[in-house]
Amino acid sequence: MRPFESEADSLSPNRNLTPLTTALDGHDRLQVGGCDLGELARRYGTPLYVLDEATLRASCRAYREALAAHYPGPSLALYASKANSSLVLSALVASEGLGLDAVSAGELLTALQGGMPPERIVLHGNNKSDEELSLAVAHGVTVVVDNDHDLERLAEIAPAAGRVVPLMLRFTPGIECHTHEYIRTGHLDSKFGFDPDQLESVLQRLAGCSWARLTGLHAHIGSQIFELQPHRDLAGVMADALALARSLGHPVSDLNVGGGLGIRYVASDDPPTIQEWVKGVAEAVLRACRERDLELPRLLCEPGRSLVATAGLTVYTIGSRKQIPGLRTYLSVDGGMSDNPRPITYQSSYTAVLAERPTAVATETVTVAGKHCESGDVLLKDLALPPSSSGDLLVVFATGAYNASMASNYNRIPSAAAVFVHGGQAELVQRRERPDELLLHDVLPERFRPVA
Ligand code: LLP
Repeated sequence: MRPFESEADSLSPNRNLTPLTTALDGHDRLQVGGCDLGELARRYGTPLYVLDEATLRASCRAYREALAAHYPGPSLALYASKANSSLVLSALVASEGLGLDAVSAGELLTALQGGMPPERIVLHGNNKSDEELSLAVAHGVTVVVDNDHDLERLAEIAPAAGRVVPLMLRFTPGIECHTHEYIRTGHLDSKFGFDPDQLESVLQRLAGCSWARLTGLHAHIGSQIFELQPHRDLAGVMADALALARSLGHPVSDLNVGGGLGIRYVASDDPPTIQEWVKGVAEAVLRACRERDLELPRLLCEPGRSLVATAGLTVYTIGSRKQIPGLRTYLSVDGGMSDNPRPITYQSSYTAVLAERPTAVATETVTVAGKHCESGDVLLKDLALPPSSSGDLLVVFATGAYNASMASNYNRIPSAAAVFVHGGQAELVQRRERPDELLLHDVLPERFRPVA
């Protein structure tokens, strides 16, 4: 057994292409978490999401320890569960002492049933339903107020439930960063949060709401960010808002700076480490509070991708091959945009190898296509691969975030199974959907029923 990725950063998994436990066995086949990927594919079928528990825990620990090391006040990292929401991930991050960010009743229920304490959960969303707000209120979950609509609905829901609701106020910080336009949220033209100009009047209104207790302020600038400066700049903007809120009589204790740290999808990606990110954010918050003579708030952050992406990979079976002489060779796999919509949505790049010959010399350049009826359903363009044939297994790395959680049933393809690997053991954490389950929500009106 020898490691697959040389010079892997064991302290900051987001810097690596593969999970920390990725290794080669005596026959140069790929193992993760002590499990042979070929064996997992035979046992659970493909496409298969594999999540390495050691990498997940290392990422949680990195945030927890870096916050403790670099921020003198209290702190808490909340897992942004939109990256990958499941009972097992809720349970794992809860066991690591983290909190959780949910954006729907579904994510909230998953967190609660996974054992996440409600006082460590925040509910986000730019258009929360009454059902979502009521669920949060009933469990004492902190609601991140995004707009006037939230306040109007809560003003009815909270008193009716006889509750004082802990609230955070989300505002748009007006900070630009270099990431894909769809995943940028901090610039002023964004659907999320109050405009900074509205902040003072909202704070004044809240001061008169006996059903509300403003505990914090929130801002988030975007996702898959490699720069530290936008996060440092955010600290000053948030400290100004904190000073304003406190001057208006709100004993605000929490400053939530959102998530956004990027990960390495391909060798040329060069994200900061978790430690560098936390240090940059913590020092900037500290400085901004000292400059304004503010008592230190509790520092919250909401990492999603950098907590779970690198821990995950997807195993596919290669099927057909189409060679267009002088143009391109397509290899098709048994999944695609339904289990990983990121390439077609954001033109995202990934790294992939053959599970059973990951170190063999590449002899051809292929385009890996999915099986969906859509020309754009391409997972990897121009991938250098050793010779392969139908039945070989292809492993795509860094699929732990925004894959399963963004999956669809396009073309009525059942959702993939997911397993946790740890110490040579694999455990099913998401059962593969059966084709007949895809029909469960269809209703055929009587008059359309075939006559027997
Ligand atoms: N907090 C808030 C309020 C957010 O909106 C997000 C992500 C996060 C935290 C976590 O950000 P992260 O640490 O994961 O960057 N589907 C896209 C990413 C969308 C991110 C949405 N918000 C993708 O696949 O790249």
